[in-house]
Amino acid sequence: VTAQTKITLNTDLAKTKINKHIYGHFAEHLGRCIYGGMYVGENNTKIPNTAGVRNDVIQALKELKVPNLRWPGGCFADAYQWKDGIGPKEKRPKMVNVWWGGVTEDNSFGTHDFLDLCERIGAEPYLAGNVGSGTVQDLADWVSYVNQPTGSPMSDLRIQNGRKQPWNVKIWGVGNEAWGCGGNMTPEYYANIYRQYATFMKDITPESKLYKVASGASSDDFAWTETLMKNIPHNMMSALALHHYSVLSWKDTKGPSVGFTEAQYFKTMDEAWKMEEFVTKHSTIMDKYDPEKKIDLIVDEWGGWYETDAEGKGALYQQNTMRDAMIAGLTLNIFNNHADRVRGANLAQIVNVLQAVILTNEEKMLLTPTFHVMKMYNVHQDATLVPMSIDSPTYEFNGKKLTAVSSSASKDASGALNISLTNIDFRKSHEVTINLRGEDFSKVSGQILASTNISDHNTFEQPNKVSVKDFSGAKLEKGVLKLTIPAYSVITLKVSK
Ligand code: AHR
Repeated sequence: VTAQTKITLNTDLAKTKINKHIYGHFAEHLGRCIYGGMYVGENNTKIPNTAGVRNDVIQALKELKVPNLRWPGGCFADAYQWKDGIGPKEKRPKMVNVWWGGVTEDNSFGTHDFLDLCERIGAEPYLAGNVGSGTVQDLADWVSYVNQPTGSPMSDLRIQNGRKQPWNVKIWGVGNEAWGCGGNMTPEYYANIYRQYATFMKDITPESKLYKVASGASSDDFAWTETLMKNIPHNMMSALALHHYSVLSWKDTKGPSVGFTEAQYFKTMDEAWKMEEFVTKHSTIMDKYDPEKKIDLIVDEWGGWYETDAEGKGALYQQNTMRDAMIAGLTLNIFNNHADRVRGANLAQIVNVLQAVILTNEEKMLLTPTFHVMKMYNVHQDATLVPMSIDSPTYEFNGKKLTAVSSSASKDASGALNISLTNIDFRKSHEVTINLRGEDFSKVSGQILASTNISDHNTFEQPNKVSVKDFSGAKLEKGVLKLTIPAYSVITLKVSK
């Protein structure tokens, strides 16, 4: 144990809601995310399923309290023809997934499958519209197909395909990564295209008032945010997106997902911490054009990205270790603390792709360390952010320094405080003192996710190697909480009266 982390929580000053949508997920037609990971087909007799979707995955996602799920991409969204994914499955046209491995997509998982799944797990759907290669009419038709109760050609088609009631889909992406796979557009050009597509995406009923998300910047592309905030009328845009991955390099090796060096670990943490800088700077630009914070910042892709294991380049399958738990704990603390502007986020991606919460192998399934962190943190969903000041020691490597302990806290409907702490330090545990200002509390309980090695992960043979344990190491005395947080661990505490 070395230096002290000192936190002061101003419990009486809590006012900003942590939007539950910060805890959103993302499912793309990529590798085994949809096929094999979620959808195994209605006629599968080996893997128990409901309407073709694995029961074990449905169960896990319910447990996780997934607030929203983004689909069908990613890059795939701007190649996707939604009309090929409706109607009798045997008649659906096939396509080539040009972005992900050039595999044949048989369109057997389409709009009905996705929206019914969202209903089943209690998640709001977030549909990413095709702006890169689809027409304005296609996207307008998709809105009508899912949201028009009756009386339009599209609502009639939906009813004919077996769904009477509209789904009332509110969250819509107007393209994805328009600066790259979504069309290689300039920000000025995309701003115009956005205005055109968004014009024809109609609010059909009061229950389905659209929440339109403009395709956002990558990492530090502040000019993108500036141009969009300047050129898109603010009443046409509910949110602006941002993507940032914790990746070692886009050009050279991304490093392995297991068995990485400390240098690689440090760099991953450095990239994860950059989220703080990026969210702050993009928010500052947004503040200039939208001081009342009417437009949300949605980080609709984030997570660790490593070299693909085993399954080939296009599949983006990777293992998930305690390093990923660190990315998750740190990033969610950052989002919570920026709840006044960050009102949504989507971890990439939900099953078998990138920083997945679930991995599957035929009939086997496991929950990753990231799943556990997302679940430990879901107490913050729609709770009220408690402002904090934090003074943390640093984690040093080769002369470089990163803040070791990050934290965020919220007050729930019962008046209890939930505090989350993540220590990314590779070597040292840290003593933490938390001063609870403003209210009196008497009880404390906690949970911890920790493991012997940073590369520890769950396997199909040992699915519970990394798992959540009760944590009773926090002592509360006269309004001050004291605990020690081990190296590379995540702790959540519940404090009540
Ligand atoms: O999540 C994988 C890919 O990363 C997405 O398809 C794309 O939007 C981003 O570049």
